[in-house]
Amino acid sequence: MAQATFRIWRGDASGGKFQDYTTEVVPGMVVLDAVHAVQASQANDLAVRWNCKAGKCGSCSAEVNGNPRLMCMTRLNELPLDQPVTLEPMKAFPLLRDLVTDVSWNYEVKKSIKPFKPRPPDAPDGTWRMAQADVDRVQEFRKCIECFLCQDVCHVLRDHKLHSKFIGPRFLVYAAALEMHPLDAENRLEGLKDQHGIGFCNITRCCTKVCPEHITITENAIIPLKERVVDRFYDPVTRLLRMLRS
Ligand code: SF4
Ligand code: SF4
Ligand code: FES
Repeated sequence: MAQATFRIWRGDASGGKFQDYTTEVVPGMVVLDAVHAVQASQANDLAVRWNCKAGKCGSCSAEVNGNPRLMCMTRLNELPLDQPVTLEPMKAFPLLRDLVTDVSWNYEVKKSIKPFKPRPPDAPDGTWRMAQADVDRVQEFRKCIECFLCQDVCHVLRDHKLHSKFIGPRFLVYAAALEMHPLDAENRLEGLKDQHGIGFCNITRCCTKVCPEHITITENAIIPLKERVVDRFYDPVTRLLRMLRS
């Protein structure tokens, strides 16, 4: 039976180091299977977060050979097993222990975004009318599993640590889902410009590249939001018209 070595980061916020574990691997295994095998036989105290093992709960996010990935969706046959497979926790969030980070900042950010506010019904029976194209446009954003891999890879959070000024790609997707919802009547543009820091995004597309749900974060969510902010606050013709109207 084949064997592979996993170089797993062990430690907490006060410090730690990589430790090598060699375990048996069989066809069809994913990285999370190997972590569980190590946990069962060699390191009972190894901390790892997971729930579904099906790429749907977003819990098992980590860095596999330096790439932000879901461990349950990363097959071992995609990796070079002739050298150790490096497993590390995400870098954009505080470390709790081993492969587990504290992602609670994300839930606080979510609360800061104005919720869905439907416009009054279109018909006397309390129903609305929507174009199918407008409905389809936001469906993609609803695939998000909140794995926060896009947050992890975004240099604004990962390297510059601007968590107090920038909500990150996940929540720009969330804001886009609300802003572009055909029934929504709320205005989030001022928040996006100021409190939520959309201007910090310089469209490097790193977030789009790592999204396991293949959401086109930059082109379909962030760029249209940036255009709306620019139209609202920086377009001189729109500003003049608004001043004349007021
Ligand atoms: S495109 Fe913007 S949000 Fe996405 S990783 Fe780059 S800077 Fe961050
Ligand atoms: S947008 Fe994609 S990468 Fe970001 S949290 Fe959602 S599923 Fe994960
Ligand atoms: S365990 Fe649920 S996404 Fe990996």
